[in-house]
Amino acid sequence: LEQQLFGFQFADVKVEAISRASRSTERKRSKVSQAKRLGQFFTPASVASTLVRWSIRQDTDRILDPSCGNGEFLAAHEYAVGIEYDPIHARSASERAPAALVHQGEFFEWASETRERFEAIVGNPPYIRYQEFSGKLRQRALHQAKLFGANLPELASSWAPFVAASSLLLNPGGRIAFVVPAEIGHAAYAKPLIEALCKNFDEVAILAVRKKLFPSISEDAWILFASGYGGTTNSINFVAQEHFIASASFPRPHFQISLDEYLRARGRLRRWLLPAESLTAYEYFERLPGVLRLGSMAEVNIGYVSGANSFFHLKPSEAAALNISTKHLRVSLRRGGALPAARELTSRHVEKWLADDEQVLLLHLRDELHRLPKSVRQYLDSDAGKEARGAYKCRSRNPWYTVPDVKVPDGFINCMSGGDVLLVRNTARCVATNSLHVVTMKPRFDFSDAQNGFKNCLSQLSREVEGHSLGGGMLKLEPREAQSILIPRPSALREIRASARTLQDGLAEMRLWRHIDDE
Ligand SMILES: C[S@@+](CC[C@H](N)C(=O)[O-])C[C@H]1O[C@@H](n2cnc3c(N)ncnc32)[C@H](O)[C@@H]1O
Repeated sequence: LEQQLFGFQFADVKVEAISRASRSTERKRSKVSQAKRLGQFFTPASVASTLVRWSIRQDTDRILDPSCGNGEFLAAHEYAVGIEYDPIHARSASERAPAALVHQGEFFEWASETRERFEAIVGNPPYIRYQEFSGKLRQRALHQAKLFGANLPELASSWAPFVAASSLLLNPGGRIAFVVPAEIGHAAYAKPLIEALCKNFDEVAILAVRKKLFPSISEDAWILFASGYGGTTNSINFVAQEHFIASASFPRPHFQISLDEYLRARGRLRRWLLPAESLTAYEYFERLPGVLRLGSMAEVNIGYVSGANSFFHLKPSEAAALNISTKHLRVSLRRGGALPAARELTSRHVEKWLADDEQVLLLHLRDELHRLPKSVRQYLDSDAGKEARGAYKCRSRNPWYTVPDVKVPDGFINCMSGGDVLLVRNTARCVATNSLHVVTMKPRFDFSDAQNGFKNCLSQLSREVEGHSLGGGMLKLEPREAQSILIPRPSALREIRASARTLQDGLAEMRLWRHIDDE
């Protein structure tokens, strides 16, 4: 990707600067994977023209779209400049917005060289995850974000440095209006970006939109608007809407969130999706001394990463045929779906898996090679073993066949769930893969303390607020999000019951935002 990106020269596509070589390379790539790789999802016309309207103060203002795709934003204003990496889209943008100047090339490279400045910067930057957004391109992007004052971590998705680097190209008093992923409301890297925006603009505003702007992708999209470049603010204006509504200016905020409140909420905006009354109740209970967070009682981590699941997990019949002794095998929980609703994993569950010949036996080898029995060494040297040792995770550990972090936890949490989150006691003493989170209690706390505090509506609501929606009704909890789950002690339960209705209202609202009942 990096080579392709830097191989391009900047060019005005109207003068036919697209080389033949790049055209034929473009053709070879599958359209779908390219759309994903470059984050090519185009903004509906009404959204693009509304964002341009919010950002323009005078007809003579010049706008920039740093990743203009096929030119939807450029077509909404007379004085527009667009940058687009993909030559085919750059050409369409030029055709669609003939008055605009379209440069075909890589935005961060262009931004580091240009002396142009704009009154408004608008668009829908690509959402490319760090695996694809790598090498020199990422270094350059993160460097420009840093110049803006946003110290973004390596794992930041591409949209965040796009917002930061674009802002540097504004004239004083300028505005930005971007379609951004709903991740802005929960991703760890959104916090340094929002803090930097507050240090550089008079007004920072976020509009959460429940109905999907892009029905073809699972991620929700929200809107980020900031005005008065060169100023500062101590608050974020936040508004949530069912549908995106075209309007002359940014809608009136429902909440003015002070930066202190935002930081106290650990840089997460999801709680402001709650109705005001539910938010007040939530914040009252989270401050109550009788309400703990799971992280103060227990450690939550991802399960082990084998690096080659099908090699390292055997069916009982396979282990018998290979003559591998139980001494080298551990029963493993491999899917969140296998967690029992009764919230206790017992030896009876394990017996059933074994009787059904499920692939649940982890090959757990800690000895040096020469100490391992011949049967195990033969399996390691089999074709499957040769393939497994070439897998990335196996290659990068020594010895390749020792799966690290295999521990028996006190319990499990499903990290992804289409319904409610389960906290399950590990009576069966199983281990678990990274399809689940493993929970280990801290000294002084018993697993039943956590389980007893997990069943009420406050804890349930906290799962929705502290986790995040993955689209399609799925709730995802990263370990640090799971550690934020509220666990009331018995002393707080009576008060929680008295507020049950308000908390349930909040729960219903959060479930709407995770599209749990959408078609
Ligand atoms: C989400 S699309 C948005 C396009 C347009 N702004 C819209 O909303 O309709 C993102 C665009 O960024 C382009 N892109 C991806 N990486 C880029 C880069 N480093 N420099 C310039 N454009 C890039 C993609 O080809 C894609 O057309």
